[in-house]
Amino acid sequence: MTIKVAILGFGTVGQGVYQILQNKQKQLTQLTGESVQLCGVLVQNKAKERILPDSVLITDQFDAILAQEPDVIFEAIVGEQPSFSYLTKAIDKRIHVITANKVMFAKHGTHLLDKAANHVGIGYEATTASGTPIISMITKLLQVNSVTKIEAILNGTSNFILSSMQNEGKSLNTALTEAQAQGFAEADPTNDIEGYDAFYKLMILSQLIYKRQPNWADVPCEGITNVTTEDLTSAKTSGQKIRHIAAIEEKNGELYASIKPQALPPTHGLHSVDGVDNAIHLISDLAGPLTLRGPGAGKLSTASAMVEDFVHILQSYPVKLLQY
Ligand code: HSE
Repeated sequence: MTIKVAILGFGTVGQGVYQILQNKQKQLTQLTGESVQLCGVLVQNKAKERILPDSVLITDQFDAILAQEPDVIFEAIVGEQPSFSYLTKAIDKRIHVITANKVMFAKHGTHLLDKAANHVGIGYEATTASGTPIISMITKLLQVNSVTKIEAILNGTSNFILSSMQNEGKSLNTALTEAQAQGFAEADPTNDIEGYDAFYKLMILSQLIYKRQPNWADVPCEGITNVTTEDLTSAKTSGQKIRHIAAIEEKNGELYASIKPQALPPTHGLHSVDGVDNAIHLISDLAGPLTLRGPGAGKLSTASAMVEDFVHILQSYPVKLLQY
């Protein structure tokens, strides 16, 4: 059988998904028993030159993508809308969806998961910590455990910038330009450096672990733009590193979250996390303290999370749902 897939958004991540689908074709067929065919790509600018086979529809109209009757949609668009509307429509048509969209999923993930119920697959590993499988680890391996606290580095760009500033003496702007060139930062990097990207990811983790989120307006959210050279030098002198930390804790039934730069001593579990890496340190009642670390941004790392979700969905659900 042939599985038809479409990709919404053909920037860094969308192209990464295409690259993996191409390069791992044989392995994907072995894992899923299906052959995968890209039927359409949704773009903003149709005129831009793209190296895609003639058989792939390139369109700026979502309805034209639906007309291709995809079985699975990969969504790698930035921003809450129109992504939320597209995925709602796709789920209504019983198309499996896999998203990398953080703000959209932080706001509407619960709604989409409820809508999909157990009938349609939803993959969102790529929303948080890129290809580092924190969502899978929590969903599949910590079901009986209660997680009381999380401290995490959740924005690869901020960690890359802080590492470059502290280790190599670079300026924020130089390091940011490098992060953009390497495909870590968003096209508009405001969310990266002002802390909102880490905030959305923390809210996704909160929903997953605590089945609820703190009131967004009550969560202090600070990025890295106020970190000065003096802060970094003084931290370095005392053996500390400044890292952008997203934390959430449940105390007496209340959730307390914060996102801000912090000076970490060498004894802290996240002190050694350099470069574009993300890391999640969590305290669980049975398994104890656990730390998961890996790349937090990048084309293939993020696309990897989406394609792993794809395989999982194909292995877990009837592939061809009655949608058309
Ligand atoms: N811009 C994001 C980051 C990409 O730097 O972490 C991955 O979500």
